Amino acid sequence: MPFLKPAARPWRATDFSYSRVAPESSDADLLHILRTTALVESRADQYGDYLRAVFAARGESWRDAIDQWNREEREHGRALRRLAEAAGGGFAFERVMDAYLDGVAYHPCDGRSVRGSVAGELVARCIVEALASTFYRALRDSSRDETGRSVLHTLALDEARHYGMFKAMLDAECAQRRLSLWQRLRVGLGRMLELGDEQIMVAAWLVDPAAAPRYRRRAVARRYQTALYPRYRLAHLNFAARLIGPVLFGRRSELLNRSFAVLLWLGLRLRTALNRAALAFTACTFAAAATASPQTEHIAARK
Ligand SMILES: [Fe+2]
Ligand SMILES: [Fe+2]
Repeated sequence: MPFLKPAARPWRATDFSYSRVAPESSDADLLHILRTTALVESRADQYGDYLRAVFAARGESWRDAIDQWNREEREHGRALRRLAEAAGGGFAFERVMDAYLDGVAYHPCDGRSVRGSVAGELVARCIVEALASTFYRALRDSSRDETGRSVLHTLALDEARHYGMFKAMLDAECAQRRLSLWQRLRVGLGRMLELGDEQIMVAAWLVDPAAAPRYRRRAVARRYQTALYPRYRLAHLNFAARLIGPVLFGRRSELLNRSFAVLLWLGLRLRTALNRAALAFTACTFAAAATASPQTEHIAARK
C-alpha cells in the first residue's frame, strides 16, 4: 500500500480556463495572497530535496512517496502562478521568485531534521499539509471567480491527500519509536506559530506593489494576516482540527478537536483585532505627521 493515495482525478496546471479569470480589482487582497502562495509553492524542489535527505534511511517506498509529492507540489506552484498572472496587475513572477530564492534560505539538506527527529519532522509536515488544505478551502469559499474556485478546490483536495501521506508515515514511524505527547505538542504547536516567519512574509512583501521599500516583518504580517484571517469560518477550523487533533494529541477525540477548533477561531479573531488596531494606529500616526510637518515648516520659516 503506497503512502500517497493517487488523486481521484489527476490534473495538470494547464487544465484550467485561466482566460476567464476575473481582473485583479475584484479582490486585491485575495490576489496578494495568491501571489504570495505562488512563490512559496514554487520552491517545491527545495522542500523535496530536504525531505529526501531526512528520510534517506527509510528506504524506497518513502523516497517514491516524496518524489510524487514533490511533483504535485511543483504543479501547485505552476497553477497558482498561472492564476495570479491571469488576474493581471503586472505580476513579474520570474523576478520576484529569483529575489525570494536569494533572500530566504531553506533548511540545509544534510540529512538532519530541524525538528530533531524523523517523527518530529513528520508531525510538522502533517501540520503544514492540514493547514494548507484548510487555507485553500477558506480561499476557495471567499473567491467569486469560477476558475479561481476550481483551482483552489483542487489544491485543497491534494493537500488533504498529502496530509494522509505524512500521517501514514508518522504512524509507521511511531510503530517503531515512541513519540511522547510533549514532543508532539512542542513540534506541532511550534510549527503553527512559525506561520508568521520569513518563509511566507518575505514572499508577501516581494509581491506587494504597495509595500514599503524596506522589509519589516511585523508590518508585512499585519497586512497579510488582515487579508487572510477573516476568510476563515468555524467550519474551516473544525476541518483543520479534525486533521491536526490526532497528530498533536496522539488520539482521536471529537471533544478535543472541537475545543481546539474554537481556540483556533478565537485566536484568529483576536489576532485580526490586534492587527487592525495596530494598522489604524499607524495610519493615524502618519496622518498626524503629515499635518504637523507643514506647521513645522511654517514655524521654521518665521524664525
Ligand atoms: Fe501545495
Ligand atoms: Fe502539500
